[in-house]
Amino acid sequence: MKLWGGRFSKSTASMVDDFNSSIDVDQRMYKQDILGSIAHVGMLGKQGIIPKQDAESIKKTLKEILTDIEVGKVQFDVQAEDIHMNIEKELISRIGDVGKKLHTGRSRNDQVALDIKIYLREEIINISNLIKELQVVLNDTAKQHKETILPGYTHLQRAQPISFAHHVLAYFEMLKRDRARLDDCYSRMNVLPLGSGALATTTYPLDREYVADELDFPSITQNSIDAVSDRDHIIELLSCLSILMMHLSRFCEEIIFWSSAEFSFIELDDAYSTGSSIMPQKKNPDIAELVRGKTGRVYGDLITMLTVMKSLPLAYNKDMQEDKEAVFDAVDTVKMCLPVFTQMIKTMSVKKANMYKAAQGGFTNATDAADYLVKKGVAFRDAHEILGKLVFYCIKHDKTLDELSMEEYKSISDVFDKSVYKAISLEECVNNRNLPGGPSQDAIQKVIEKNSNYLLKIINN
Ligand code: ARG
Repeated sequence: MKLWGGRFSKSTASMVDDFNSSIDVDQRMYKQDILGSIAHVGMLGKQGIIPKQDAESIKKTLKEILTDIEVGKVQFDVQAEDIHMNIEKELISRIGDVGKKLHTGRSRNDQVALDIKIYLREEIINISNLIKELQVVLNDTAKQHKETILPGYTHLQRAQPISFAHHVLAYFEMLKRDRARLDDCYSRMNVLPLGSGALATTTYPLDREYVADELDFPSITQNSIDAVSDRDHIIELLSCLSILMMHLSRFCEEIIFWSSAEFSFIELDDAYSTGSSIMPQKKNPDIAELVRGKTGRVYGDLITMLTVMKSLPLAYNKDMQEDKEAVFDAVDTVKMCLPVFTQMIKTMSVKKANMYKAAQGGFTNATDAADYLVKKGVAFRDAHEILGKLVFYCIKHDKTLDELSMEEYKSISDVFDKSVYKAISLEECVNNRNLPGGPSQDAIQKVIEKNSNYLLKIINN
């Protein structure tokens, strides 16, 4: 018998039970559902909506059900559709008629909106902490590589020399924004929907503020129609997670080509790479590839929810039951990717000499040579032209700028003198870029210190 069976003359087709039920997906919210019910029933008792001793007995039984679920003693049933009705049914089976009073002044519509918010609040904190662990590794990596020079790229063409610390700290900044976005998402999510009923609240004198307080919600929703039909918090979280995955995926892309023989900037630890079933020589960056691949999956979850919601009339529609599969999948995926990604970065080895060699080629110091002329009074556009000619000459004679003789320099511009060699050394190129946000050792040291302070804070953004 269904909890809502009264107006029906026959039971649902078993095919419909399978199709309609969401217990397989939403059973993971059992704890949140019980906590919500305990707060709700406590309030019903306090307000005299149901007898206090009934409220107490429901509370006590709900706590027992929670323990029993945790030790695997409760069997869920597709007939009871979802976690909300499974728990209510279990309650009624244990204490009979008293248990039937729990759902007074409540609908599954405000109940499910509540449960998912409690569930996701906790997951946001878990994810933010995982990001923080990655940030710690990045800041530590930066500490070790303030002097490790590699080419910085634009268009994937060698552009200007930077330090490896500068490069990895770019990701630190992205992750800082990711965590700030998650914090923000958390506070917008943190509004209690319970008390909104099916869509139009209820005639019982509920004390919504009391329930909010019990469940640690700083405020309550102001429109019951919106409260039960809004899934912005899910879409917003999926957007935050999509952006986070996009950042990881860009890093993965770099890890993948840095570990190719053509770049050979890093080597992944054996524990974080894989072999080939046919080619004995292979060492593949599967972890990075999978994180990159799973990014598509998280984007898919976001698109799923944007599409599910786009034409739903107010208020609740069953389409919205699809929300949990999508958001749980994204949360699980991100929680799986972050720790393995963090360890992969922590254990990889950096091939400093190869990075340096790459920075020596590709004329990454050409801008500095032009700036050298500017400091000697040449207009930048003329200096650019002179350097263009020098580079052209170098390519023709298979030389780098620092290999040119003074005569060769002078043949193109007599403003050059011996001091040019120091000005275009890679170390000078990096360390003279001493502006805040730049690659110089001083600038990077300041950022590393700021980052360490940021990592000490409990709440971050
Ligand atoms: N399992 C449903 C969901 O996840 C709960 C709400 C059902 N409400 C209803 N009126 N059928 O959305």
